[in-house]
Amino acid sequence: MKSIETVDIAKKCVFIRVDFNVPIVDGKIADTSRIDAVIKTIKYAWRNECRVILASHLGRPKGTVRNEWSLYPVAEKLNELLGFDVIFADDCVGDGIRKLKADLLPRDILLLENLRFHRKETENEEHFAKELADHVDVYINDAFGTLHRAHASVDGITRFVKEKACGFLVAKEIECLSKLVETPSKPYVAIIGGAKVSDKIGVINNLINKVDVLVIGGAMAYTFLAAKGIRLGKSLIEEDKITTAEKIIEKMTKKGTEVILPVDHNAAKELQSKTKPKIFTNENFNNEYSAFDIGPETIALFKKSIQKARTVFWNGPLGVCEQEQYALGTNALAHAIAELDAFTVVGGGDSVSAIKKSGVEAKIHHISTGGGASLEFLEGRKLPGLVALNYY
Ligand code: 3PG
Repeated sequence: MKSIETVDIAKKCVFIRVDFNVPIVDGKIADTSRIDAVIKTIKYAWRNECRVILASHLGRPKGTVRNEWSLYPVAEKLNELLGFDVIFADDCVGDGIRKLKADLLPRDILLLENLRFHRKETENEEHFAKELADHVDVYINDAFGTLHRAHASVDGITRFVKEKACGFLVAKEIECLSKLVETPSKPYVAIIGGAKVSDKIGVINNLINKVDVLVIGGAMAYTFLAAKGIRLGKSLIEEDKITTAEKIIEKMTKKGTEVILPVDHNAAKELQSKTKPKIFTNENFNNEYSAFDIGPETIALFKKSIQKARTVFWNGPLGVCEQEQYALGTNALAHAIAELDAFTVVGGGDSVSAIKKSGVEAKIHHISTGGGASLEFLEGRKLPGLVALNYY
């Protein structure tokens, strides 16, 4: 796979696919990480006197033009971060855009409007892809979070450009995540949380052969506990995934991999209730209650299980961390991971937010900008965006 540094981009028209799929609350960007992460690539193209076209999706508008999914707030943020104005286009294809592209001058930066305002983007439609490639000399993909999507701006477009390469962010993500797949220093501990076993089966199956310890938290742990015959009152369980969880535990045990599950829980009768949550162990769990976070004994157990790790991968929150009273486990682990003398990688929206909220971001080796993409990469699946760049 070529990188932006190994192709000649000087004075050329460069199309950079970025992932500006950022959370926008009341018209304001709530987390700018994905924008910050590609500034290096944009500046590099700017220094090389390129005519730069930036393109991204935002949300899932499914072919309809919706104001709340406009990339305009991102254009404003870019002006601030780059220190000069980018040109914002109100569409990504069409006659007006063709003209805008033709009129670009060296060091002009054009941000196209949301690609998904056209259904043809997600359909990977050929004519749409060809139109995106209009006037483009070099295609750069720096949208790590979108590499698992075979969409027109990720896949189709690459058939209509002469040169294609990855940007600095994609290169860094691949380098860090590859370390987890190829040569992780041992002991290697993976902490997997989140609500659903079904979302994580692929990655867990792949981790079975690589990790020494698998720590499971979040609501998915309740399904794993059910597989061991432990039912926690009204806690969320994926009944149809209990057998899958059983098989995973069985495979892990055969491999000699330790599987660590919660032993106590922060629970309440209802998630929204203002009453103070109570702590129950697996053994004394009250049938009227649901678990929403790991309890203090589990926090201590999880912390102990990562103490000797030389490599740690964490994906998914350990409780309903959007609510402060159920964010204790997730925050405690964020701090514990940050203090380790190990190669630490965190991926996936909520665990990344927890790291940021805890203020320990600088102490983590790599925080992936991709949720689904990082999991699929670790699962060993071929990502369409990387196939298009001849990575494999
Ligand atoms: C993400 O946020 O994971 C990426 O931007 C991909 O978005 P998508 O799941 O809507 O394709």
